[in-house]
Amino acid sequence: MHRIHILDKDFEISMTNETIQQKVKALAQRINHDYQGKNPIMVCILNGAFMFAADLVRYLDFQPEITFARFSSYEGTDTTGKVTEVMGITTSLAGRDVIIVEDIVDTGITMYNVLPLLENKGAASIKIACLLQKPEKLQVDLTVDYCAMEIPNDFIVGYGLDYDGFGRNYKDIYTLAK
Ligand code: IMP
Ligand code: MG
Repeated sequence: MHRIHILDKDFEISMTNETIQQKVKALAQRINHDYQGKNPIMVCILNGAFMFAADLVRYLDFQPEITFARFSSYEGTDTTGKVTEVMGITTSLAGRDVIIVEDIVDTGITMYNVLPLLENKGAASIKIACLLQKPEKLQVDLTVDYCAMEIPNDFIVGYGLDYDGFGRNYKDIYTLAK
């Protein structure tokens, strides 16, 4: 499927699952190297990161704890700039090495607002692992520690990412058709 239609928009395939897997595997190897002998907890940010997190953890050669959190910040194709905690973390993060697993860092506002929330839970260290980043759109001072791929400033769907709730199920990534 090279072209898909979601609601009122057309999208064209821009990254195959084969490419995604190569990049996720390479990212996992960096994390394997950096967390040797450590006992990190991975916080998968719902909903978008569920597919990325599922693949990423399967390439790890240690046994991370895995937990989930949900923050809301996005409507349609434009960010609202407002972040609210919809589903909090129930596992204790006190003294833990935390790896946040996020689908995409766009303006960076979501991660910028999530970091202090996790810092307040007493984590020993917090790093961000994202599948994608749109560096041109970054609006805040944010360090992304692990990023599988940088992409241009286009709206994408698939591999967990959605357009108004749809398109998350595709194994490949699609870009809004011009
Ligand atoms: P930020 O706060 O602007 O960095 O936005 C982060 C969130 O916006 C991500 O976790 C995604 O859920 C969503 N997002 C950003 N860009 C896209 C996109 O191109 N497609 C789908 N969702 C996106
Ligand atoms: Mg997200």
